[in-house]
Amino acid sequence: MSLMENADTVRWGVLGPGRIARDVVRDLQMTPNAVLEVVCSRSLDRAEAFAQEFGFRRAMEGEEALAADPDVDIVYIASPHPAHFESAKRMLLAGKPVVCEKPMTMDAAQARELIAISKQQNVFLMEAVWTRCLPVFQVVRKWLQEERVGPGKPRLVSSSFCVGLSKDPKDRWLNPELGGGGLLDLGVYPLTVSQLAMGGGAPVEIKVMADFAETGVDEMVSGLMRYEHGGVARFTCSMRTEFECPLEIGGEDGFIRVPSRFLDANEATLTVGNHSETVRAPRRGQGYVHELEEAMRCLRSGEIESPMISHADTLATMETMDRIRAQIGLKYPGEE
Ligand SMILES: NC(=O)c1ccc[n+]([C@@H]2O[C@H](COP(=O)([O-])OP(=O)(O)OC[C@H]3O[C@@H](n4cnc5c(N)ncnc54)[C@H](OP(=O)(O)O)[C@@H]3O)[C@@H](O)[C@H]2O)c1
Repeated sequence: MSLMENADTVRWGVLGPGRIARDVVRDLQMTPNAVLEVVCSRSLDRAEAFAQEFGFRRAMEGEEALAADPDVDIVYIASPHPAHFESAKRMLLAGKPVVCEKPMTMDAAQARELIAISKQQNVFLMEAVWTRCLPVFQVVRKWLQEERVGPGKPRLVSSSFCVGLSKDPKDRWLNPELGGGGLLDLGVYPLTVSQLAMGGGAPVEIKVMADFAETGVDEMVSGLMRYEHGGVARFTCSMRTEFECPLEIGGEDGFIRVPSRFLDANEATLTVGNHSETVRAPRRGQGYVHELEEAMRCLRSGEIESPMISHADTLATMETMDRIRAQIGLKYPGEE
């Protein structure tokens, strides 16, 4: 029975049962009408162990089988970023809707190609930027639409995502072969919320500084981005620093503060003059439920992209990361 005939349930296939897949699948378990249909790994043993632990109906080896599976309505790709492009392309060409972990691809050219295939095939594609789907970000969006911080677009945005990650050079975070480095992994969050706050689109000017690990990937990137209307966003991402991670958005009349860590926050505060208003908007689960529900809503309504994280939003962030990488000279294996 097809999804449309099936009304509400959506059967999920999960590709790449690693660290983030564990967290997202825990949220998938509590998402109404989500069915844990199949988990797919490069090893059947790993798939079977994961399927048993989380209660999937089936386990399988090899993404070719997943792409051809008639009982999978949507695929969640949770492998390291260098693998995203080929897997997402395979799924979309097979007509499978895709939610792909962030960053969607290694560069904007790959993202552009996936988006073109999604449109050609009329198949749903979404980057798993869960933060943009959180209830608290719907509050922030509303305040911005109502121009509560002042007329026009914000003047100043400040955000950071800094954590102390593994120092093991073989681990994904430090390994160039696995797309390691702070910008692609952590920087995507400050960049995407800066873009959201500034009203969409990419910055017209970017100035950045970076520090590198011995393996050649970036450990810290900090910079300024100027947007067409004159507003400036400053951001920092670091995988070697524990630091507060709030998001602040200011205009002529006031400012919004999403407290640390903004990426999974449960409240936001609007301050205008002497008056402050805090709105609580708690996330469900670890916060992934909202992006999973949004993907399922889009499937049911036949949309091929989500307004919460549109293809244009993904592309603007990927293009910004390309420009930052060009400035700091960050290249990955196989790149010129
Ligand atoms: N949304 C979030 O909050 C969040 C948080 C962390 C990470 N992420 C994103 O999620 C992705 C995965 O991160 P992770 O830390 O979960 O990665 P991981 O645990 O290192 O890898 C995930 C799984 O991918 C498969 N895999 C590993 N190397 C691969 C390769 N070269 N080609 C194809 N498959 C490979 C492995 O499963 P099998 O070998 O069993 O197939 C592995 O268990 C990254 O793109 C990251 O940016 C998102």
